[in-house]
Amino acid sequence: MTALELFDKKQKAQRITTSSKNLDNLLGGGIETQAMTEFIGEYGTGKSQICMQLCITAQQPPEQGGLGGKILFIDTEGTFSPQRINEISKLRGLDPKKILENIIYARCYNSDHQLLIVDRAYKVVEEEKIKLIIVDSLISHFRGEYVGREMLSERQQKLNQHVHKLLRLAELYNCAVIITNQIQSNPQAFFGDPNRPAGGNIVAHASTHRLYIRKGKANTRVIHVIDSPYLPEAEARFAITQMGIEDVEEK
Ligand code: GTP
Ligand code: MG
Repeated sequence: MTALELFDKKQKAQRITTSSKNLDNLLGGGIETQAMTEFIGEYGTGKSQICMQLCITAQQPPEQGGLGGKILFIDTEGTFSPQRINEISKLRGLDPKKILENIIYARCYNSDHQLLIVDRAYKVVEEEKIKLIIVDSLISHFRGEYVGREMLSERQQKLNQHVHKLLRLAELYNCAVIITNQIQSNPQAFFGDPNRPAGGNIVAHASTHRLYIRKGKANTRVIHVIDSPYLPEAEARFAITQMGIEDVEEK
């Protein structure tokens, strides 16, 4: 394509609200289509909660910050909770049945299965008019199956294929891709932070925006842009409440 065609294509990128204004601002307006956004954090930092919230907001009409589209949710850990979606939808005055109906759920049992689901996703995304693809979490199966140094290069090769297929989906169908990732401790690091996102350079380079979440006081969370082609390295706060993701109430 010409650079002009590329320019026009990029102009068509859309955004999905996270339902926290502060977080949306940090992201330059929300979760972007034609891009892969990665949420990184320890257990309980709210990665899955953000994913479930976005399953709802992505379905809202554009005037309410959504894309009026369906969602493909690839669940590798079995933590997706339709009850939680039901609860948040109700509290937000939405019809939970409609919301749940528009989420295509795929439970994924191992890394080969994960790759297979994404291969099949091309058809589903096109037919079902999916606007958001979520992989929660990206790495868990790969980490569990490819253990030890000898297997690392094979793991990284597979992971590389996987993330690039996801990116291709985002570009081809103008949809947003969200992946979640865990923290891995590196005992060999003598300097700096010994904790780093799992998946190494492959995942780091494939993700368009990398966001790091840590726990704040009570139900608040602090989220930090650690890598992005244009977002400043700033941070924002949000809260996890019964209603899902919200701004922190300022006293
Ligand atoms: P891992 O998948 O284990 O790495 O964690 P995660 O980052 O996906 O965490 P998750 O999104 O599951 O967040 C769990 C946290 O969300 C809990 O510790 C609670 O603090 C919070 N949470 C979940 N449901 C509710 C709720 O109904 N109300 C409130 N206030 N908080 C909730
Ligand atoms: Mg989770």
